[in-house]
Amino acid sequence: MPAVAIEFDDIGLTFAAASRAPTVALDAVTCRFESGKVTALIGPSGCGKSTLLQIARGFLDPTQGRLRFVEGAGGNTFRPAMSTVWQAFNLFPWLTVIENVAFGLDLAGVPRAEREERARRAIAAVDLTGFEDRYPRQLSGGMRQRVGIARALVMEPEVLLLDEPFGALDAQTRLVLQEQLARLVETSGTTAILVTHSIEEAILLADTILVMTARPGRVAARIDVDLPRPRSIATTRDPGFSALFDRIYELLRDEVMRAMVVGGGDN
Ligand SMILES: Nc1ncnc2c1ncn2[C@@H]1O[C@H](COP(=O)(O)OP(=O)(O)OP(=O)(O)O)[C@@H](O)[C@H]1O
Ligand SMILES: [Mg+2]
Repeated sequence: MPAVAIEFDDIGLTFAAASRAPTVALDAVTCRFESGKVTALIGPSGCGKSTLLQIARGFLDPTQGRLRFVEGAGGNTFRPAMSTVWQAFNLFPWLTVIENVAFGLDLAGVPRAEREERARRAIAAVDLTGFEDRYPRQLSGGMRQRVGIARALVMEPEVLLLDEPFGALDAQTRLVLQEQLARLVETSGTTAILVTHSIEEAILLADTILVMTARPGRVAARIDVDLPRPRSIATTRDPGFSALFDRIYELLRDEVMRAMVVGGGDN
């Protein structure tokens, strides 16, 4: 599977509104999401992180600038296969775990036996073997989120988009899932963009962290994380971890304060 890089070239997006001033969500965002790497996006609430993911996904068109997908040595490519894990679990309540996971394969016309085989493998990858026939209501929040991750991974996407995938979970479940996801992305070679509010999560999972400014969102800093992998809770005791954490916290604190001052209203 050829890995795909995503380039944002001077991208802006303004939401027009009939009854009030337009909202400039993103302004002149230029950045590159490297192929086979995890890039974390971190920034104040409302700075345009989800909007950026929706542009990458093709659900929103930028009002300025260009989006490019680059394959291998540098040739442009068409929109790659992408999967998304949104913050809300978004499972179909009337389908079992395995039916939820296999749903996208069914839509893609994958034959039944292969569907079943791949779904079982994805379920095993998130440690849910034995729960195939449960319904979402019979699962805990953490288990549901793992089904969401399995459903994205089963498609073997070239690009994986994660919008605060662990936002709604308790701290312990979150840690376990972060470690699992770190392992999964390391082995899959997928290009991943992870939106998170957690500095710790960004450092544990990402190769590169982009810190965004308060709205209109721009890239304020690009920070490479060169801590060794596999990373785990033990990584948080590495002095390199603390140094990175402090640096990102400082950048973020300024932007969050700015967001509070300029972003009190909806504009
Ligand atoms: N469909 C829309 N129409 C109008 N404005 C929108 C729309 N979607 C988002 N916005 C505005 O664009 C800005 C960026 O929103 P976005 O959801 O991308 O922020 P975010 O960084 O993901 O925030 P959070 O961290 O709270 O999830 C916000 O001011 C939001 O109100
Ligand atoms: Mg968001």
